[in-house]
Amino acid sequence: MYIIRDPKILYNKVKKIHKKNNTIALIPTMGNLHLGHIKLIEVGQKNADKVIVSIFVNPMQFKNLNDSKKYPRSLKEDFKKLKLNNVDIVFCPRLKKMYLNNFIDQIFVNIPSSYNILESKNRPYHFKGVMTIVSKLFNIISPEIACFGKKDFQQLFFIKKLVIQMNYNIQILGVPIVRDNDGLALSSRNILLNSKERKIAPEIYKTIKWISKKINKNNLKNNNFLKKAYKNLVKHGFKIDILTIRDSKTLNKKLTKKTSSIIILCSAWIGKVRLIDNLEMLLKN
Ligand code: PAF
Repeated sequence: MYIIRDPKILYNKVKKIHKKNNTIALIPTMGNLHLGHIKLIEVGQKNADKVIVSIFVNPMQFKNLNDSKKYPRSLKEDFKKLKLNNVDIVFCPRLKKMYLNNFIDQIFVNIPSSYNILESKNRPYHFKGVMTIVSKLFNIISPEIACFGKKDFQQLFFIKKLVIQMNYNIQILGVPIVRDNDGLALSSRNILLNSKERKIAPEIYKTIKWISKKINKNNLKNNNFLKKAYKNLVKHGFKIDILTIRDSKTLNKKLTKKTSSIIILCSAWIGKVRLIDNLEMLLKN
């Protein structure tokens, strides 16, 4: 497994891979890898000749530099896991190599302001940071395939748009959420939960599953069960940022009889940890 820190070295390495007619799957991560990431790697390996995993805690998608410094890091452990899982290349660039000149004159890739909804309403800087870093990775690596987890539903939604609108010739694969036995979606942030919080955390998935059982084509406008679900999470000690049902194709609030699939989205704080989860479902006629 090659560990590469310099974008130019990776750029040249990738050229050689492509010259041999090998395809590349990119798995962008911020490290602190768990089984959810391993699933992304497996999907990459099934769909391409070589897999490149990037590990970079991107400060531009956090509120500030301090916030990004608090993100859990475990580079040595990550390398072991990646080697064990036969990853071909790990790209873990230093901050200065990804954002030249200390962010001065940095050009950004952003989502339109009409999409300042849900996660981007609370954190307007976040997707600007994600779109910029993912574009940089796409430009350095030119992968044929890139894999992203479905847990970050809105991120995946925007990345699919980014690829179409910015003319990247890359196939985006959305990979299903991996869960612990009790239903908690795997996340690098879960290790920040104390034992009491960890016990309560699966309530998010239980609640969105409960909503999914209540909802059908005929009661899309009735949000009584959404109110009940909200109260249940608050009762368990969550502070809720988002609990909503949207059209999964458009993220639109407006649901009609024509809506064919919905997404139940939840972002909630338990203590100092913000957890996100979602459940997508097709609506039967
Ligand atoms: O999902 C993540 O871990 C990050 O947002 C990503 C895609 C690696 C960009 O920094």
